[in-house]
Amino acid sequence: MAGFNGMIKSEEQIAKMRESAHLVAQAIELAGAMVAPGVNTLDLNEAAEKFIVENGGYPAFKGYKVGSQTYQFAACISTNDAVVHGLPNATPLKEGDIVSIDIGVEKDGWYGDGAWTFAVGAIPAAWTKLMQVTRESLLMGVAQAREGAYLYDISRTIQDYCEAHGYGVVRELVGHGIGRHLHEDPQVPNFVPGRFEGGFPNIELKEGMTFAIEPMINLGTARVKTAKDKWTVLTADGKPSAHYEHTIVVRKDHGEILTK
Ligand code: MF3
Ligand code: CO
Repeated sequence: MAGFNGMIKSEEQIAKMRESAHLVAQAIELAGAMVAPGVNTLDLNEAAEKFIVENGGYPAFKGYKVGSQTYQFAACISTNDAVVHGLPNATPLKEGDIVSIDIGVEKDGWYGDGAWTFAVGAIPAAWTKLMQVTRESLLMGVAQAREGAYLYDISRTIQDYCEAHGYGVVRELVGHGIGRHLHEDPQVPNFVPGRFEGGFPNIELKEGMTFAIEPMINLGTARVKTAKDKWTVLTADGKPSAHYEHTIVVRKDHGEILTK
């Protein structure tokens, strides 16, 4: 599949992405450390945005267009049954919530993208387990991102592990290539596409390809719906969802995480 070799980044380009991805990781860590009862998600968004800009980056989601809509915030912040694309808002977090913080950064023309789910105080054991398994599935997927493997090795590993725990693997949203743009080819599904599902080429992985791998895993059904705000993706059954994302580089033996 020589046609996909254009996705391979040079070490100089990867070094640029490492800078952007490092800002992503730091911004998420900063906002995550603020997560507590009484804090609202606009405050988290503002702190993350300020940090990114102060460090020479641009918040990549701000101004990003999806169809006819333009996203207005630096971060997507999604609580409880919100899977992804939640809008920062003035509702205070409360003990027992979980909150996913998803941030993209552009610096010097190169992109990084990452997400992490945090607990607000004590949460039910089943929710803690959902977060742990989702996090583990991401790391297992990253471990598959090695020279000579195939994209679906990542997808299958995440799907099998999460479904073995009885969780729902979201189909409507997927990971993606990343580099000079926030979203590049190929799509990186967290499931093995069906035989007749188009748009998901199972490419052979080469060292230097860069992906955002991002399992979105639901405690209950895999089905999702869009909220009235036209952005927030919610679980169809109202049960919680976890989301972790790393920007990675394909290497000889396993993926290298840039978002740290
Ligand atoms: N969080 C998405 C991703 O990881 C992108 C968000 S696009 C936005 O790929 F418009 F919602 F910001
Ligand atoms: Co992403």
